[in-house]
Amino acid sequence: QILILDFGSQYTQLIARRIRELNVYCEIHPYTHAPLLTEDIRGVVLSGSPCSVREADAPNPDLSAYLGQVPVLGVCYGAQLLAHQNGGEVLPATIREYGRARLTHINQHHRLLHGLEPGSQVWMSHGDTIKTLPDGFLAIAGTPDVQVAAYEIEGQSTYGIQFHPEVTHSTDGKQLMKNFVVDVCGCQQDWTPEHFVDAMVTALQDTIGETDQVILGLSGGVDSSVAALLLHRAIGPRLHGIFVDNGLLRKDEYEGVLEAYKVLGLNVRGVDASQEFYAALAGLTDPEQKRKAIGRTFIEVFDREAQKVEGARWLAQGTIYPDVIESVSVKGPAVTIKSHHNVGGLPEKMNLKIVEPLRALFKDEVREVGDALGLPHNILHRHPFPGPGLGIRILGDITPEKVAILQRADAIFIDGLKAHGLYEKVWQAGVMLLPVQSVGVMGDERTYEQVVALRAVTSVDGMTADWAHLPYDFLAEVSNKIINQVRGINRVVYDISSKPPATIEWE
Ligand code: XMP
Repeated sequence: QILILDFGSQYTQLIARRIRELNVYCEIHPYTHAPLLTEDIRGVVLSGSPCSVREADAPNPDLSAYLGQVPVLGVCYGAQLLAHQNGGEVLPATIREYGRARLTHINQHHRLLHGLEPGSQVWMSHGDTIKTLPDGFLAIAGTPDVQVAAYEIEGQSTYGIQFHPEVTHSTDGKQLMKNFVVDVCGCQQDWTPEHFVDAMVTALQDTIGETDQVILGLSGGVDSSVAALLLHRAIGPRLHGIFVDNGLLRKDEYEGVLEAYKVLGLNVRGVDASQEFYAALAGLTDPEQKRKAIGRTFIEVFDREAQKVEGARWLAQGTIYPDVIESVSVKGPAVTIKSHHNVGGLPEKMNLKIVEPLRALFKDEVREVGDALGLPHNILHRHPFPGPGLGIRILGDITPEKVAILQRADAIFIDGLKAHGLYEKVWQAGVMLLPVQSVGVMGDERTYEQVVALRAVTSVDGMTADWAHLPYDFLAEVSNKIINQVRGINRVVYDISSKPPATIEWE
């Protein structure tokens, strides 16, 4: 594997993505917790950082355990750090070095750079630049403005590059990463979904005792479903899936998802707890209070159901890699914008050990593994859906009647997206029921009914998002259908806010 030492750059996860696309396994570790060099680490990448090596408190770890032992590639800050530590001169750049640049001189015979043509576009994003290289460092590529765009340390497989090969704007970035990972580090490109499934099934069988029972909360989403399939393959019916109907699911979702799990042969039990959730939510209007009530009730219901499983030792979770690695926060912990409800606090309460088979995977890798395990297309490509469900899409207090109205409007929107081939073009979509009534006219009648907002976004990871530019004709059709078919709604609006500053959900 390749080890990526993270210095807090926004691009660190992208480095991991690029390496994994080469079918090579890699892990990100914060520089403050750099692991010992073991035999399976074939190479090290030093990430970028928002810091400058010239700042007194900038990351400055001792890298001697790696240097000269395995190939090392410093990217941006990583490159500047190596130069700085060895007596080179890193200064503020006099010309802005952000955005596109072209490599005009390249040592094409160099094994890090072969396949890169002169003129190759690269993406720069740094305020500092390497002015003078230390003794024993050789420049191997440059741009008109940046003399040392890439260097090597003589006699070692240690390299530094000041541009970002991991972003798609660096057109030969993939080639460069491949040169490093495959040619220089000698990694085999054998980390495939099938390989992952085989290795994970064996690992799960080794970890989970032969008579241990495992509990897993299922949501109908990709992550928990893939986790279930992996565990099912490893331990069969000793996996006990629990799927809770919180009364805030999409229309027909509960029945549909249970049926799909049945077809897959999974041992999953459905629990209809709608009334308990409605009771806990009665009269609550504040978004955070609603989220907390839903979270609390979920834990109560899940705990009660889990107690019924004799011999339960493990709680499985569909945690994925982005949940695990938060890029090192150089500026302190991030603020909580919304308290996400999933199963936080559950394991301590239940005294179970945790097993997380997807911990090492990015979302699209989870999909590939799901595909290899035969998960049907409709679950594999399902939009993300928040744990608190329609509870955070009904603004104000929640009643079963409002849920029923929203379910019908939401189904019209989602079915419409599917029918027009738009569903998989957007990252997530749904309808918000607003606590606003407006006047309308239907036939000769005056109406005074509720407003819904359609929300559809494009995104890569949900962290940032843009409103989806859906065709007007399509929006018109959905609006007509909702107003004609859903009693209680007489006005439909489309949300054209991006995230930030808005969020995807309205609460
Ligand atoms: P926001 O509204 O913060 O949402 O832009 C970002 C993504 O997270 C989902 N979301 C949640 N998912 N539990 C979840 O499992 C939650 O409490 C929760 N709140 C928001 C949201 O649907 C979007 O995909």
